[in-house]
Amino acid sequence: MTEIPIQLARDRAWPLVERLNAALEAGEIDEAQWHRELAAVIVPAYLAGENPRAQSGSSGDDADWAHKRGLIADAVDRSGAFLDVGCASGYLMETLGRWCQNRGHVLEPYGLDIAPELADLARRRLPHWKERIFVGNAINWVPPRRFDFVRTGLEYVPPRRQRDLVVRLLRDVVAADGRLIIGTYSEERDETRAEPSEEERVAQWGFVIAGRSERPHLSDARLVYRVFWIDQ
Ligand SMILES: C[S@@+](CC[C@H](N)C(=O)[O-])C[C@H]1O[C@@H](n2cnc3c(N)ncnc32)[C@H](O)[C@@H]1O
Repeated sequence: MTEIPIQLARDRAWPLVERLNAALEAGEIDEAQWHRELAAVIVPAYLAGENPRAQSGSSGDDADWAHKRGLIADAVDRSGAFLDVGCASGYLMETLGRWCQNRGHVLEPYGLDIAPELADLARRRLPHWKERIFVGNAINWVPPRRFDFVRTGLEYVPPRRQRDLVVRLLRDVVAADGRLIIGTYSEERDETRAEPSEEERVAQWGFVIAGRSERPHLSDARLVYRVFWIDQ
């Protein structure tokens, strides 16, 4: 069997993201267009999903979801307010709370998404939390409060803005004694990876990595699921 390219195994949107990154660097598009073109692909695909996992961009059943996202609970060491940056259908807001409850921590979940249609979907699914689901771009959204735990993906902004995203979330969104959680994402195993890991890249920017968690990939033995965190 021919293996698919590892970049595609990590992220099915890889060809699109590569094209947009190149166009941005060449000055052919601006950052607003970069976000718009990604949303034009993601939003209809998520809205067509038949369950809240698919509506958050994840294939598989609930056990797969718990395996792929459950490691975020390893970053939660106490009760507090949790913001999911890029909340999509809001399913992580729901499920992370349950996983943390099992560990004795009570989370108050909040969500932010750049796509109004996905924030609307999350509000419809979770009407009791509709006041806690916001629309905005994480790079410049003005939060109504601070959060003890903030989860994000670096891939939500172009590569040249990823350091800025970490800086501004820590400065403006994470509580004074809070934690910024980065991931989950798929990454090639350390034994075979030639490039610096996402964690190494962030550490090279001068941030101290306070912890990390990792699980085997469900469908590609070359990859692992990862998350790491930075304390304020
Ligand atoms: C893969 S889903 C993540 C769903 C869920 N949080 C999880 O971890 O499984 C990524 C979401 O991030 C949103 N997003 C992408 N860029 C963003 C940005 N700059 N600010 C806020 N949300 C963003 C997308 O619209 C999409 O709904």
